[in-house]
Amino acid sequence: MNNKNSNRRRDFLKTSALATGGLILQPWNIAGAYAAGTDEIKLAVIGCGGRGTGAVFQAFETGHNIKLVAMADAFRDRIDKSHQPMLDKYGADKVDVPEERKFVGFDAYKEAIKLADVVILAAPPGFRPDHFEESVKQGKQIFMEKPVATDAAGIRRVLAAAEEAKNKKLNVVVGLQRHYQDNYRETIKRIHDGQIGDIVGGQVYWNDGGVWVNARQPGQTEMEYQMRNWYYFNWLCGDHIVEQHVHNIDVANWVKKGHPVKAYGTGGRQVRTGKEHGEIFDHHSVTFTYDDGTVIFSECRHFPGAANRVDESFQGTNGSVFLSAGNHGILKDRSGKELYNHPRENNPNPYQVEHDELWAAVVNGEYKFADAENAAHSTMTSILGRYATYSGKVVTWDEAINSEINLMPETLAWDASPKILPKEDGYYPHAIPGKSKVF
Ligand SMILES: NC(=O)c1ccc[n+]([C@@H]2O[C@H](COP(=O)([O-])OP(=O)(O)OC[C@H]3O[C@@H](n4cnc5c(N)ncnc54)[C@H](O)[C@@H]3O)[C@@H](O)[C@H]2O)c1
Repeated sequence: MNNKNSNRRRDFLKTSALATGGLILQPWNIAGAYAAGTDEIKLAVIGCGGRGTGAVFQAFETGHNIKLVAMADAFRDRIDKSHQPMLDKYGADKVDVPEERKFVGFDAYKEAIKLADVVILAAPPGFRPDHFEESVKQGKQIFMEKPVATDAAGIRRVLAAAEEAKNKKLNVVVGLQRHYQDNYRETIKRIHDGQIGDIVGGQVYWNDGGVWVNARQPGQTEMEYQMRNWYYFNWLCGDHIVEQHVHNIDVANWVKKGHPVKAYGTGGRQVRTGKEHGEIFDHHSVTFTYDDGTVIFSECRHFPGAANRVDESFQGTNGSVFLSAGNHGILKDRSGKELYNHPRENNPNPYQVEHDELWAAVVNGEYKFADAENAAHSTMTSILGRYATYSGKVVTWDEAINSEINLMPETLAWDASPKILPKEDGYYPHAIPGKSKVF
C-alpha cells in the first residue's frame, strides 16, 4: 500500500464510520493485522479449484500488498495443485502458506477464514451458505463466486447473512462478473435511463456443449464420488440452470430491476444420460413472468454439436437491445436505427475488474459493495426455474422461496450418505416433469 493509502487507512481507524460522498468509510476488522498498521492484507481462499485459484491470481494482479496466508479445500490434492503455480508465479513472500495453514476437509473453511482479512469463497455452490455465513460472522471482506446456494433453505441463509454483512459494512463482491463488465454497465444504464422505453419481453440463453465429468474411482465412498463429480448432483451444483445460466438470468433481473413472480417450463435428459451424469437435466426452457406482466424466456442446454448461444436480448416499448459477454451492447429504436453500440475492443477483463474494485475499496477503507442480496435473488430465480422444469408445473416465487426443501446431507463426512443415492443399477433417480413433486 502506498503512503497516501496507508495514512488514509490510519485516519479511518481513528474515526467511526463516516458517510462521505455516498461512500461509507469504515474501520473494519480492527483486531486484524491489517488494522494494526502492517499495511499487508491477509487473504484466504476456500475452494482451491479453477476459479478459487484464478481469483487469487486476480487479487495479486491488483498490485496491492496482499499475502495469501491460508488455503482450505475438501481435498488435499486440490490445494497442492493450486498452491504450486501460485508459488511459481508470485513467490513465497506473497504465497505464504506453510503446511499448518493448509486446511483440509469439510470444516477446513473455519480455520482458514480466521486467519484472513479478505476471503475468496469458491467451493461448489452448495457450501456457499456455510462459508458466507461464517465469513460474515467473523467480520471478513468477501469475494464469493456465484451461484450462492442450491436450494431455498440456502438462499434464506444467504439473505440473512447479506443483511448482517450490510450492518457490519463488509464489502461483498459476487462473481456475477457481467456487473463488472463495461458493455453491460453502459448499456443497462441506458436501458434504465429509458432509451428504449419500458422493457416488455426478453430472451436469455446459455446453450453450449457442457462441462467436465469426473469418473468414479475404485475405493471412493459415495460422498467422495459425488464431491469429485459435483457438477451432476443438485445439493452441490444446483443443475446447470443454476450453476451456469444464473449469469444470464441475473441480467434479466438486472434489466427488470427485480425478480419474477412465477415460472413455467420444461426440461429433461436427452443426450447426457449416463450413470456419471448424476441427476441433473441437460436442457431447461422456462418462461419467467415479472410482476408487471413482462415475460422473459430462458433457455439453457448442454448438447454437444448443437448451435451454441450465450447472450441476452430484451424488447422495450421503443426499441430493443442485444447483450453478450463478447462485449456486445447494442441498443436500437423500433425502426432499427442504432442508439448505442458499445465498442467491442479494449474492454477490461471483468474477472480482473471485480478484484480491482473490491481491493481498492478494502485498501482505501471504503464500504462500497453489497452484492450478496442481488446474487441470492438471481440464484433463487434460477432455482425457481429448476423447480418449474422438474415439476412441469407453474411455480410461484413465494412458494419456491418459502419451500422447506434442503438438499444438503444431514452429516458432512466421507462415510456419510448424501440424500441422493444411486439405484441398484447404478443410475441416479432424476425428476420426471409432470410426475415429480419438487415440494
Ligand atoms: N464467475 C464465473 O464465470 C465462474 C467460472 C467458473 C466457476 N465459477 C464458480 O466457482 C465455483 C467453483 O467452480 P470451479 O470451476 O472452480 O470448480 P472446481 O471443481 O475446479 O473447484 C472447486 C473446489 O472446491 C473444493 N471443495 C469442494 N467442497 C469443498 C468444501 N466443503 N470446502 C472447501 N473446498 C471445497 C473442491 O475440492 C475443488 O477444489 C462454482 O460456484 C462455480 O459456479 C464461476
